[in-house]
Amino acid sequence: MSAILTLPQPDDWHLHLRDAELLNSVVPFSARQFSRALVMPNLQPPVTTCEQALAYRQRILAAVPSGQAFNPLMTLYLTDRTNPLDITHAALSEFILAAKLYPAGATTHSEAGVTAIERIEPVLDAMQEHGLVLCVHGEATHASVDVFDREAAFIEQILTPLVQRFPTLKVVLEHITTREAVEFVENSPAHIAATITPQHLLYNRNTLFQGGLRPHYYCLPVLKRETHRQALLTAATSGNPKFFLGTDSAPHRRQDKESACGCAGCFSAPAALELYAEAFEHAGALDRLAGFASHYGADFYGVARNTATVTLVRENWQVPEAIPCNGDTVIPLAAGDTLSWRLRDSG
Ligand code: NCD
Ligand code: ZN
Repeated sequence: MSAILTLPQPDDWHLHLRDAELLNSVVPFSARQFSRALVMPNLQPPVTTCEQALAYRQRILAAVPSGQAFNPLMTLYLTDRTNPLDITHAALSEFILAAKLYPAGATTHSEAGVTAIERIEPVLDAMQEHGLVLCVHGEATHASVDVFDREAAFIEQILTPLVQRFPTLKVVLEHITTREAVEFVENSPAHIAATITPQHLLYNRNTLFQGGLRPHYYCLPVLKRETHRQALLTAATSGNPKFFLGTDSAPHRRQDKESACGCAGCFSAPAALELYAEAFEHAGALDRLAGFASHYGADFYGVARNTATVTLVRENWQVPEAIPCNGDTVIPLAAGDTLSWRLRDSG
């Protein structure tokens, strides 16, 4: 087996970078691995206008280590009160590529999200007209829906009617976790795609409870049973361009995860590409990693493919147990685990 894997530089099409001190601590990890990232808008308060998105972009750029090139691409957070004019405005910016639908209450910092799809129909009309991508957190929020069924329920109750009502709207179903999501995307037209995270390719829901409750493996949508993981791995490694890389790296301070009501999100940025390589290698599909990680997302979003390359070396290394952050600590995904591919630093 080859000891070196060279890929076109990948992009991360779903990333949380937070703000202030946490932003400064986490940006270097993504900038080291990825050329571009689609940055999620769930700050507090959320990023709802173009001005806020472009100001946030400047704060991200200020946190990029000197000598590194990293292009953050931005998203707007949809609320019940989003003005369609913000969509028209966003579509004119080369730095704003999408708007994010968080059903209110579905996940971390989604309180300001959309309470009923009907409320944003004029906004979706404008998005469809101007070609702005709708990124979707696909989970039904009603308390009666079992937490493991929320994605499938969302697809049936909300997403299927939505894509019928807006037949040319570009949609990315984010961080998919189920066979139902894979099938929905496979059976949809080419302008409907999905991102897949490393944790959903590598782990099933047993991982959450292995030896005790493991909060650093808790994210939303939550890990599912093994049959779903296998469906995701098959989709990611199939060469189907509708499935591409989005880490959903979502850093939280250790004390916020290890708490009586720990928050959802896995911080995968320190080992993101290596974790995907691990998953693809187990599936015998390392030759498909470049398409998934470096090409299909760029093609979907209509931006040029990257020309620079990155190199993974077949070499064991240990994911750090903890990442210091301004006096606090963030625990990365797979902390302490030994991985068999290592990203070589450029330059
Ligand atoms: C994300 C976060 O922490 O911002 N958490 C998560 O579990 N994935 C929000 C999200 O993408 O749902
Ligand atoms: Zn996310």
